[in-house]
Amino acid sequence: MRFDFTTIPDRHNHDAIAIDGLGDGTGFAPAAPKEGFDSIPLWVADMSFATAPSVTRAMHERIDHPFFGYYEETDAYYQAIIDWHRTRKGVDDISRDCIGYENGVLGGVVSALNVLCSKGDNVLVHSPTYVGFTGACENNGYHLVHSPLALDEGGVWRMDFEDMERRIVDNKIHCAIFCSPHNPCGRVWERWELEKAMEVFERHDVWVISDEIWSDILLNGNKHIPTQQTSEWAREHTVALYAPSKTFNLAGLIGSYHVIHNPWLRDRVRKESSLSHYNAQNVVSMHALTGAYGDEGAAWTDELCQVLSDNANYAYEHIRDTYEGVQCSRPEGTYVLLADCREWCDSHDVSYQDFPRLGWDVGVTWHDGRLFECPGFVRIAVSVPHAQVVDAFDRLDRYVFKV
Ligand SMILES: Cc1ncc(COP(=O)(O)O)c(C=O)c1O
Repeated sequence: MRFDFTTIPDRHNHDAIAIDGLGDGTGFAPAAPKEGFDSIPLWVADMSFATAPSVTRAMHERIDHPFFGYYEETDAYYQAIIDWHRTRKGVDDISRDCIGYENGVLGGVVSALNVLCSKGDNVLVHSPTYVGFTGACENNGYHLVHSPLALDEGGVWRMDFEDMERRIVDNKIHCAIFCSPHNPCGRVWERWELEKAMEVFERHDVWVISDEIWSDILLNGNKHIPTQQTSEWAREHTVALYAPSKTFNLAGLIGSYHVIHNPWLRDRVRKESSLSHYNAQNVVSMHALTGAYGDEGAAWTDELCQVLSDNANYAYEHIRDTYEGVQCSRPEGTYVLLADCREWCDSHDVSYQDFPRLGWDVGVTWHDGRLFECPGFVRIAVSVPHAQVVDAFDRLDRYVFKV
């Protein structure tokens, strides 16, 4: 490996919620471990890997020129995004006009909702549901209608197109938030699935907000298909949201962007995003993106995806082969695994509410499924050096599942 994905970093007192943000287990954060155990950070969707050297180099170069006055996004910034989407996602129809800065992907989701909906409107999402969608929508007066994903006979999470259609009609829905790849189920949707979903949306005039923040993190050779590439209708009716933050571990820097082809939609979303007067990029963050979206960043991402594939495969296979009463699907993208522990809980007389604490007590800081609309599940982010994944499962073997 050209890059370091094995060193276990010390992130204590270095601005990391994943490490220093543990609570008492009653809110968003897991509880801190019992004495004698350190905590392995498997909850927040960030990584215990230093970002790509090309990112820090670009930031250093910019900081070495110590002038931080008003500025405009550079041609290099736009070109880096256009090239990244061409080389990594096979998309060759993005022009500079289509790209617009967003402080966060969730901020972009809210701006798009504000354009496409009235307050109180019903919005379609799949469940399990990324907790950020729930929070952002509730906070802004939108009502989420959940269409459940279900595991097929092969253990793959699938959409239920008939259920989606029924809920859209029954709830007069005209906007859907689509997560691709899907957090927390780890699905990378196949072309036929995307096309069928878009056909449902088109039939009922449902605009699409497609959150593709995970689209660079592809495991075991899976390929991401951008929602806008599935049909001419989808191209014109989709707000797509991206960021280098998941891929390069830059969430604390802030800096996301949208891609919108339809000029009317683009103008409306930009107007909405502008209203706060602080949807503006940090100059260092702009240079981080240009450092990320280049050849060296691409090589780093390829290695990252290999490391994460190994971690996810190890975790999936360990659960499948060792823990009776726990179901899990092999993740295709993202670095999260969703483990259904309901059968294990039921047969061991452990409540879904109490179950996550069994792991937290021994430093396995997985995330409680209740946050993702799936009580009795846990989400495990395997974005740590492999040795820590092995350590976590060793603790689960010994102290939780007792195998
Ligand atoms: C699906 C999804 N969307 C958005 C975000 C957050 O994006 P941002 O920090 O840019 O708002 C996350 C973070 O985990 C995510 O998983």
